[in-house]
Amino acid sequence: MTSNVTVVDHPLVQHKLTLMRRKEASTAEFRKLLREIGLFLGYEALRDLPLGKLHIDTPICGMEAPVIAGKKLTFISVLRAGDGLLGPMLDLVPSARIGQIGLSRDEETLEVTKYFFKVPQNLGQRLNVVLDPMLATGHSAIRAIQEIKDAGAKDIRFVCLLAAPEGIKAFTEAHPDVPVVTASIDEKLNEKAYIVPGLGDAGDRLFGTKGA
Ligand code: URA
Repeated sequence: MTSNVTVVDHPLVQHKLTLMRRKEASTAEFRKLLREIGLFLGYEALRDLPLGKLHIDTPICGMEAPVIAGKKLTFISVLRAGDGLLGPMLDLVPSARIGQIGLSRDEETLEVTKYFFKVPQNLGQRLNVVLDPMLATGHSAIRAIQEIKDAGAKDIRFVCLLAAPEGIKAFTEAHPDVPVVTASIDEKLNEKAYIVPGLGDAGDRLFGTKGA
């Protein structure tokens, strides 16, 4: 494993991931499990947030108590499946700003085109966590990070649910400065660039749009 990549191997995460992967998992189950695992992924991605001190009074005495200090946070979803990780991240940090990036991929050439980009100002002063459940070829994630770097972001993390080894390699080569947090690095990509064994199309499973 690359040192910049963290696989969250907690038994609860691995158990929930197994339930999500099952093809018979309903849309409601899939959504709920992604939300639950998202909390653990966010917990890990934000593990080193700096702390300051705040004076508070408990019913017993006063104390200098730890509070999150430092940069403001931005959560940036790569549409559309990235939106499935926004809920749990906002449960953890309700005050975070939100960005969204829309990227479409040509199925033949796998070339990535940007169709939507809306992010808060001052990305350079923020900690920016980019969310996309599936790191497959890495093309979209690499482009999304490049777009936010071009918009001024410097401190960036990438959170995904599943990754392919090919995607991890491409991503860490393109953006060695961006830590990755994932629940699993699967076996490989298939000829259609789906992660194997994976869980199928994350967007379709999350939104219930298979065959639409
Ligand atoms: N995107 C998905 O939703 N699933 C994959 O397996 C690969 C990319």
